Amino acid sequence: MAEPQQGILEDIPSHSRYLNFGISAAAEPSAVITAIKECYQSAATVIGLGDSLIGYCGSQIDGLTTFPSYSHGGVDVPATPSALWIWLRGEDRGELLHLSRAIMHRFDGLLEPIDCVDAFRYKEGRDLSGYEDGTENPHGDEAVSAALITDESDELAGSSFVAVQQWLHDLDYFKSLPQAEQDNIIGRRLSDNEELDDAPESAHVKRTAQESFDPEAFLLRRSMPWADIDDCGLMFVAFGHSVAAFEAQLERMTGAKDGTTDAMFRFSRPITGNYHWCPPVANEQLDLSLIQGG
Ligand code: HEM
Repeated sequence: MAEPQQGILEDIPSHSRYLNFGISAAAEPSAVITAIKECYQSAATVIGLGDSLIGYCGSQIDGLTTFPSYSHGGVDVPATPSALWIWLRGEDRGELLHLSRAIMHRFDGLLEPIDCVDAFRYKEGRDLSGYEDGTENPHGDEAVSAALITDESDELAGSSFVAVQQWLHDLDYFKSLPQAEQDNIIGRRLSDNEELDDAPESAHVKRTAQESFDPEAFLLRRSMPWADIDDCGLMFVAFGHSVAAFEAQLERMTGAKDGTTDAMFRFSRPITGNYHWCPPVANEQLDLSLIQGG
């Protein structure tokens, strides 16, 4: 049976580091593929290949589309594609640093680092706004069918597609609002995480309610807070058996169709956005047989 990359279904770790790479001039596709395979470390990494890298290797993955961008009504949603995305996961920040250094060295002359963002678990898995993130995530078999291609006859069996957006929060503004208004932005009460029946239509959980889409739009979210010396926010990471559920949700959040923008945009905005294909695993190695040179 095709196995998914282990880190997709596991709970978020204490620490993460996200790396994005572009392709170096003159890099040999087969050498890039060999190096990527060597970087896979079961639960410590989740690796996603972007369209540009897959095309560079002369291949194509059905279902991997271009990340949508929006710009209207005060909302900007950028698309920032990258050739390779690696999510490093662990309980020890020092170990992550050493692993990322080893990966960077292995890609010397093959891939160019674009960015590197460190993230962490806050309490039991909260966003820095203070609200629990992941409450309505599917679990068990439902998580598997939301996040992975499970049809064994599909050549992509065991694969997943990941949508990643780095969101930048304005916490000074958010925390200056009365508590009831903060709760209405999320659509849940901070004090007990209860969903608010009378939340406005713009409330985040009303805009993204997974059963309210046709077809239903379930995602496996594995987001984590990030922070540097000046800024902070959420690294939104969602796995799907296709990008359709994410795309339906994002479109509704922007208000592109019905004019109701998700209130989340009042205090946060995405500064990156990309899709990657997360290949399956065979014999504890990334299975890149669909990519030429893999
Ligand atoms: C600043 C960025 C974001 C923050 C801080 C955030 C935070 C939250 C919080 C606190 C919840 C309620 C608890 C839960 O069920 O997890 C939630 C729910 C949810 N969010 Fe987000 N979120 C963000 C962006 C997004 C984006 C970009 C999407 C998808 C395009 C999304 C999809 C969802 C979904 C599907 C739910 C569950 C809705 C339901 O079925 O009840 N979120 N989010």
